[in-house]
Amino acid sequence: MTALDSVRGELELVGPPAECFTSREWYERDLEVLFRSRWQLAAHASELPTSGAFLRFTSGPDEAVIVRGDDGEINAYRNYCRHRGHRLCTSDAGKAGKRLVCPYHGWSYSLDDGSLQTAPKMHERFERGPWSLRRAWVEQHRGLIFVNFGAQRPAALADVLASSHPELAADAPRDESDVLGGYDFDRMKVGARSSWEVEANWKLLVENNLECYHCQMNHPELCRVLDPWSLPARYGSDGEPLSTDQIREIAGREIRRSGDFDNRYSFDGASVCSVALPRLRDTPGPTFFLHIAPYNVIAPTADYVWTWAIDPCGPTRSRVRHLFLVHEEARSGVDFDPATLSAFWNTVMAQDEPLCSELQRGVSQPGYTPGPLNRDHQMFVAGFYEWYRDAHRP
Ligand code: FES
Ligand SMILES: [Fe+2]
Repeated sequence: MTALDSVRGELELVGPPAECFTSREWYERDLEVLFRSRWQLAAHASELPTSGAFLRFTSGPDEAVIVRGDDGEINAYRNYCRHRGHRLCTSDAGKAGKRLVCPYHGWSYSLDDGSLQTAPKMHERFERGPWSLRRAWVEQHRGLIFVNFGAQRPAALADVLASSHPELAADAPRDESDVLGGYDFDRMKVGARSSWEVEANWKLLVENNLECYHCQMNHPELCRVLDPWSLPARYGSDGEPLSTDQIREIAGREIRRSGDFDNRYSFDGASVCSVALPRLRDTPGPTFFLHIAPYNVIAPTADYVWTWAIDPCGPTRSRVRHLFLVHEEARSGVDFDPATLSAFWNTVMAQDEPLCSELQRGVSQPGYTPGPLNRDHQMFVAGFYEWYRDAHRP
């Protein structure tokens, strides 16, 4: 029995023990077992419009520079120089010239394959060949860029997606009814972005994002467009608490879709972009949340997509990144206002941030033990922790 199993009750489902949220040991374990080996949503292709455009992506201590090469391809390299290890890119985003140049001694690398191009004043017989940048794995799915920090080449992103949703296989014909709602993410662009550093373990942020038990007390704007108490009925609870097996089936999967609603996520339910999101047949699409483990959320509504991704920064520190995608032809300042586009979810996040840091302060206190999860209104949290236990099982 693992430390995780020891607190798993049959009558009441509870979260993991305190050390999973506080200790460096569990933080490192989470990084190794859950994050490094999985594809993480890092960016959208529109953020790298031209050759040399780069973004820095970090997950725990792992960093990648995602850069568009001269050949138009998107590559990802580990963000350290092969000479003495200085980081190649220290800003979050920017535009390199013809090469990536290390700021320390000026070694320079190809954008296209990471090969060492110049190494100033090294001795005459110095061979550049062995000193290419190390790669991080990078793939796109319909314009969404995912990075994987695994030591070995991971399963292809399309195969991972297709393992639970065969219609997303690389060679499958595109379909309006696929799990991505037939949305054409290739024809979108980033209309706004925001990020938040939160003093909380990444799982507390996930937990908070996965339930609406706290919404009525904390999210008045969200409750105007979403009835927080309507969720159990949607998932088969007819007055009886959901069984553990039902919860695992509904919420304990690597990739799952939830919340097919008619809502628009804005303060008054009105449109925030006058150009509808592109779909394969340009008809209005569904609103839903697609969750991809460890924790990436892709949430389209009629006129924009909200993506939510989480980067662990330490045992008790995390970063939340939001992208707000709109139709690529939507004009900023005309068809949408970036501040309005991001305002709804930024307001919700501003309310969640202190909740999560208060959770962290509480679970960090000596003597804290986890309490029971609400089987109906925290079923996704319970499912997430079932998944978490399974993923850590030796
Ligand atoms: S550390 Fe990069 S050139 Fe020396
Ligand atoms: Fe919340």
